[in-house]
Parts: sequence; structure tokens; C-alpha cells
Amino acid sequence: MAFITPSFWKDRRVFLTGHTGFKGAWLSLWLAELGAKVSGFALAPVSEPNLFELAGIADLLSANVIADVRELNALRQAVHNAGPEIVIHMAAQPLVRESYADPIGTYATNVMGTAHLLEAIRSLETVRAVIVVTTDKCYENNEWVWGYREVDRLGGRDPYSNSKACAELVTASYRQSFFRNVPAAPAIATARAGNVIGGGDWSEDRLIPDILRGCFGPSAEVILRNPVAVRPWQHVLEPLGGYLLLAEHLVNNGALNDDAWNFGPHEGEERPVLEVANAVVESMGIGKVIIRKDPDAPHEATLLRLDCSKARARLGWAPTFRFQETIAFTTAWYAAWHKGEDMANFTRDQIRIFTWSSLNR
Ligand SMILES: NC(=O)c1ccc[n+]([C@@H]2O[C@H](COP(=O)([O-])OP(=O)(O)OC[C@H]3O[C@@H](n4cnc5c(N)ncnc54)[C@H](O)[C@@H]3O)[C@@H](O)[C@H]2O)c1
Repeated sequence: MAFITPSFWKDRRVFLTGHTGFKGAWLSLWLAELGAKVSGFALAPVSEPNLFELAGIADLLSANVIADVRELNALRQAVHNAGPEIVIHMAAQPLVRESYADPIGTYATNVMGTAHLLEAIRSLETVRAVIVVTTDKCYENNEWVWGYREVDRLGGRDPYSNSKACAELVTASYRQSFFRNVPAAPAIATARAGNVIGGGDWSEDRLIPDILRGCFGPSAEVILRNPVAVRPWQHVLEPLGGYLLLAEHLVNNGALNDDAWNFGPHEGEERPVLEVANAVVESMGIGKVIIRKDPDAPHEATLLRLDCSKARARLGWAPTFRFQETIAFTTAWYAAWHKGEDMANFTRDQIRIFTWSSLNR
């Protein structure tokens, strides 16, 4: 199986949106470890604590622009200042429940933010590869048992999922309208990852942060509202490694790879929410799982699997961890944070262990 090429990333200029978020902070740290020159563009972190600050990401960046993807001019200015070779677009409103509360804001950020990013790079000659990060939820969910493939129909019932399907369509339109058969145009791909877990996430309404808040809370109760929902859980470093490998392929092979890519866990590693919660509680050694269904909860799909045959066959990508390793890695991070360890070093060490495990799997 292939893994990323460190020499490819040394001194590469990368423009990363969403670098203050959960995935963005991990990716910024990983890219800094590889010696890349990262310019970040995002809003300020919202949670307290947050990985961006805990890991001292701002000090590792070539540029740290705190601004809004809904502002085309700000985005254009930042990306032109950075002059990147690789662009990874992760800035988004990524929460299903928040998308029900603020559908307009979600569409503005996720759809127009993507259009602005693609518009901003149209006139930039340095860019060779663009990855637009969407989600496994961009597929029309049929509640079927098979994994969704990249050719399956886009959809999404809630505004978040739907906005990401729209971002897929915007990207496809820009690719075909403005970047195909244009000399020196960048290759543009979309990446659809599964449900990502790992240390350093404190988002509202996400399973692992909710479980940890429960475990560390006064009653140690972990309340589950949708215990049967099955999701393709994976450690955050899994799709990030996929994005890096994909970017290398885009630079090396151009238009051969410029379409959509799924990055999910090993087949059969999808798990219901209840099993994840029990595994986390057991691994942490604290907490008590309580099921309290919310009859007024907005709709969320029950069954979601991803077929990653394409990334395996054409990129040589494969997940590294099995479910239990993913849980152990995640809980080790939160336990270390709870003990007050230096989380910049701890997170760096996890990246090194993951890299070693990937090379030796
Ligand atoms: N976490 C998951 O399970 C998961 C799964 C699949 C896909 N994704 C996608 O991965 C990406 C990153 O997700 P995450 O989990 O790190 O989310 P996050 O909420 O932790 O981070 C979101 C990032 O986007 C930035 N952002 C939000 N609105 C913005 C705006 N208007 N202008 C500029 N920046 C803005 C935030 O500042 C932050 O840096 C998103 O595109 C998300 O849809 C996440």
C-alpha cells in the first residue's frame, strides 16, 4: 500500500482553509512536520479549549489569516498572497444540527465559500492541485447496506449534507467550465471522508466530544440520543493521509485523478453509536452510558457506509487502524489532555506513531 512521500511535501506551499478547526489543526501540524509552508485561512477557533491553540499551530504557519470564506475579496487576497501549489479547502459549517438551526449560514459558507475559493484561484498560475473536502453525507441516503461509491447519486436531506452535495456540484462545474483543457490549469478533486474521530475535537453535537464531556462531567453520564445510527468512524489522520496522497497524485498525474474520492474505514468497521460509546467508556475507565432518545430530534440517516475501492485501486490508499486502535488512540489523547500533558508534543507523537503504523501495516 502507498503512503505519502515526505520529500514531496518539503517546502511545498499549501493553502489550507479551515486550519483552526479539528481536522485543520491536525493537518497543519502534520504538514509542518513534513516541512511544508502552510498558509491558513479560517475563522477564529470557537471552542475553548481547542487544538489550534493547544498545539501552537499559529507559530508553525507561513500565514495565519482569520477571515471569512463568504468574503470573496478577502479569500482572493489571501490565496494570492500565499501563491500556493496545493490548495486544500476544509473550511465549512460541518454540523448537521447547526445546519437545521442556520440553513442559510450553512449554505452560504459551504456552497458560496467553495465557489469563492475556486473563483479566487482561477487567476492564479501557481496552483497545481486543489482538494475540496466534502463528506460521506453528500450521497442521497437510501438507508441501504452497501457502501456508497463515488458514482452514486448525490443528495442529502438535512441542510449540511445537502450543502456538501451542492459543493460537489459547484466544484464539478468550475472544473469543467474554467479548468479543463486550459494550459497549466490545476487538477481539482473532491474528497468524501467518513465520520472522523480523534483527540482535540470539542465541537457541539458530535459523538466523541459529547461522550468525553459526559465522562469528565460531574455525574459521568454519557447520554446517547441516537444509539443505533451506524457510521463509518475513522481516526482523523486516516482521511488526512488520504488527502495528502491524493494531492501528490493530482500534482503527478493531473487530470487522471481530478474527480471524487471516498476515504473511509476498513470494510465492516462501521459501528453503531452505542458500540462507540461503550468502547470509549471502557477505554477511559470512567463514564456510564445512558440511552435517552429525543423524540423531537431532527432527521438524521441511520445507516451510512462508504466504498473506498477506488482510492485503494488507484491511489494505493488504505486505512491504517482498526476500530479498537482508533478508539485507543482517541482516548489516549483525551486522557493525556486531562492529565495536563503538553498536547503539542503529544499530538506530534501521535502523528509519528500513525505514520510508522501506516508504513508497517
Ligand atoms: N469531522 C468529521 O467527522 C467530518 C467528516 C466528513 C467531512 N468533514 C469535513 O471536514 C472539514 C473540516 O471539518 P472539522 O471537523 O475540522 O470541522 P470544524 O468545525 O472543527 O472546523 C471547521 C473549520 O472551518 C472554518 N470555518 C467555518 N466557517 C467559516 C467561514 N465562514 N469562513 C472561514 N472559515 C470558516 C472554522 O473556522 C474551522 O477552521 C469540513 O469541510 C467538514 O465538512 C468532517
